[in-house]
Amino acid sequence: MNNKDSLSTAAPLLSVVVPCYNEVENVEELTRHLSETLQGIPWEVIFVDDDSPDKTSQKIADMAFQNPRVRLIHRIGRRGLSSACVEGMLSTSAPYLAVMDADLQHDATLLPDMLTALRSQQLDIVVGSRYIDGGGIGSWDTKRAAYSRFATRISRYFTQTELTDPMSGFFMIQREALMQRVRRLSGVGFKILLDLFASSSTPLRFLELPYTFKERHAGESKLDNRALLEFGMLLLDKWIGHIIPVRFAAFVLVGGIGVLVHFLVLLLLFRITGAPFAYGQAAATLVAMTTNYLLNNLFTYNDVQLKGWKLLTGWFSFILVCGVGAAANVGIASLLFQRQTNWMLSALAGIGVSSVWNYAVTAVYTWQAPSIGTK
Ligand code: GDD
Ligand code: MN
Repeated sequence: MNNKDSLSTAAPLLSVVVPCYNEVENVEELTRHLSETLQGIPWEVIFVDDDSPDKTSQKIADMAFQNPRVRLIHRIGRRGLSSACVEGMLSTSAPYLAVMDADLQHDATLLPDMLTALRSQQLDIVVGSRYIDGGGIGSWDTKRAAYSRFATRISRYFTQTELTDPMSGFFMIQREALMQRVRRLSGVGFKILLDLFASSSTPLRFLELPYTFKERHAGESKLDNRALLEFGMLLLDKWIGHIIPVRFAAFVLVGGIGVLVHFLVLLLLFRITGAPFAYGQAAATLVAMTTNYLLNNLFTYNDVQLKGWKLLTGWFSFILVCGVGAAANVGIASLLFQRQTNWMLSALAGIGVSSVWNYAVTAVYTWQAPSIGTK
């Protein structure tokens, strides 16, 4: 395509990072748009594909073979928009880094203006905004528009910025500005821009340029409930992540629900149907552990959720680990109590030790999960 272009051998000044998942119908068209609009600029495009089932990565590899401006990072066994963007940006030495969707929803013709602004003004980042004069959200349905407005409002609160569109997935940043902040990024979920702003100790000097969010060219959006959950996790991480790990907070929260479930089952069996207390207690423990397991699998470990056969083996290991945790809980609490510790403190110490044990061991054995924030 562009091999004859002498600029294609120059080291890229601008690198456009494009996270993609099931975008096989879009990547070629996007590359065509980039070629048209970036004439005269040494550029490259880096697609970061998470092993899409539709074989997007094969398509990109074929394109890269024809066009040296096209590069591919193919990640296997991982998912995540933010982490894909971060990895793409770290894989290049270009001094200017843009991030955009693969589906042509972001207006590529804005890129040259973004670059000019970054090069000529004292700025760290230029953000494409749908919410300033001249921008727009195109043909979004009212539900999606309302969700976006709501998320924008809470994001502004958490990031304390004046950004009109902190949820934008379309921006260009100076490499240096990224490098100063990259180690503090959470890297979780969908909102890389929000992450960047929230992770900055010195505020980013930014400019917003308007654009209109277009219809998807082909394929469908990946912004689903999982993305929403990850958004919640990101905000939580920015809020309390420096004190306790977000996963642990979620785990403890689920544990609290487990206590309620336990009492409900016990009430039903022991008080209402008149089963012996020990039976009631045993059944309640098992039911509570199982609901805890399922809730953790759904929320706390949504990103590495166990399914199918693994859901069953995971359940076994969870029950086993938490069984040991319960024994330790009772043991420690009894020991402290015997040594004249206040009964409530003894119980709390037992609960504390077993929660940390349950959390730490199931993280490794049941879910084999990295902690949020380490990508
Ligand atoms: N590598 C990788 N891994 N890429 C992903 C993943 C993933 O797990 N999930 C989504 N992507 C890619 C998509 O293929 C697309 O190129 C881009 O990330 C954005 O995903 P979309 O599915 O197109 O999201 P959207 O259009 O609904 O949301 C857009 O608007 C939001 C603002 O409301 C995006 O630009 C968001 O970044 C933006 O916050
Ligand atoms: Mn999109």
